[in-house]
Amino acid sequence: MTLQLTERDRAMLRGDEGAAKKMAMSIIIRMAEISKAEKLLDIVGAHIDSTVYIGDAGLEFAEKLASLGAKVAVPTTLNVSGIDEHHWQEWAVASEWANPAHRQMIAYRSMGTIQTWTCAPYQAPTKPAFGDQIAWGESNAIVFANSVIGARTERYPDLFDICCAITGRAPAMGLHLSKNRAGKILFRLVDISEELQKSDDFYPVLGNLIGKLALDKIPVIDGMTIRPTDDQFKAFGAGAASSGGVAMFHVVGVTPEAPTLEDAFHGNEPAQITDVTMDMLRESRQALNHSNSSKLDMVAVGCPHLSLVEYKKLASLVKGKSKHPDVQFLITSNRAMTQLAQEAGILSLLKDFGVKITVDTCSLTSPMLPPEIKKMMTNSAKHSYYSPGLLGRDVAFGSLEDCVNSAVAGHIVQDERLWKE
Ligand code: F3S
Repeated sequence: MTLQLTERDRAMLRGDEGAAKKMAMSIIIRMAEISKAEKLLDIVGAHIDSTVYIGDAGLEFAEKLASLGAKVAVPTTLNVSGIDEHHWQEWAVASEWANPAHRQMIAYRSMGTIQTWTCAPYQAPTKPAFGDQIAWGESNAIVFANSVIGARTERYPDLFDICCAITGRAPAMGLHLSKNRAGKILFRLVDISEELQKSDDFYPVLGNLIGKLALDKIPVIDGMTIRPTDDQFKAFGAGAASSGGVAMFHVVGVTPEAPTLEDAFHGNEPAQITDVTMDMLRESRQALNHSNSSKLDMVAVGCPHLSLVEYKKLASLVKGKSKHPDVQFLITSNRAMTQLAQEAGILSLLKDFGVKITVDTCSLTSPMLPPEIKKMMTNSAKHSYYSPGLLGRDVAFGSLEDCVNSAVAGHIVQDERLWKE
């Protein structure tokens, strides 16, 4: 089956709508042909991961598009940058890095995008609705959009996402199509207490486990007896999209395309059934702990970016406590949530405790950590998964409460009560 193009697609390809759309459409068509898509479809929004500065190639691509007059055709949010635009000098970022990273920000800003600079666009007012066709980059955002919202996006790579945004078109393939959104393998929660299901650290641990076992297949989770919060789903999806390539999941009776087990599998039989036990979860939690000592230099929370609800929870945990002077406490979030936290009157409380906040970026995408930071602690499966390789740092994993208690104690503290045999 050859790719069917509309007259408008052909016009963009000819350059009738400008050189930027011509370049973007030629890339989309090549990708559609490789993927054996039969046609392109309209999208109603995009989220651009190409904003992350990783070297000259991404910068050159962005500046080339900008120089051709590129403008996005649909509402388009931006993922993190390589720097906190207005505060990067407060960190260990070298100007040789900051300058090109900032040029990349300027290039994407010039295209008429929405200046979200966040990896959690699904917590912004511009988030998509059920059934919306979108083109999103950033693995944790993709899995949340598909699974929790029920919007439809493929796992778009950097550079391709902006091509979709400029043309408003994407190949009709993969998770854009109903037939490809069926669950493939079943995970049954066995004897997992409701108390543990309610706790925040359950979700990154479960996500890390499911990602490793599901890889890029769509997992269906059955047996959850509570409805997780958006932040818990965020932590789960980020974990599953890091240890595996999960772009969509279903939770039976909870997520919008899985009211029943049969719906989750579109009436098919699961290719594989796995019982998730406490032993498996304990092993997954242990795998997120890369640190073999209780020493601690920095606690890092906000991966994916901290929401207002999480800001409030953190404020309630630090109230009346003092941070140990030898431990730094880093929050990564975005401008919008930090502004809301400011308006809610909780930033001063957090700053009195001694937190430092960075926006627009994070410690995994910006070389911002000073060399004396060697031992870290996080409540994020994604942060824990990538830190040894990307940062070369030992990381311990714990709940948000563990992170606060550790920052107060000056060494790693982990509450084992919910995880005991
Ligand atoms: Fe976001 Fe950085 Fe984590 S981009 S998901 S805070 S690795």
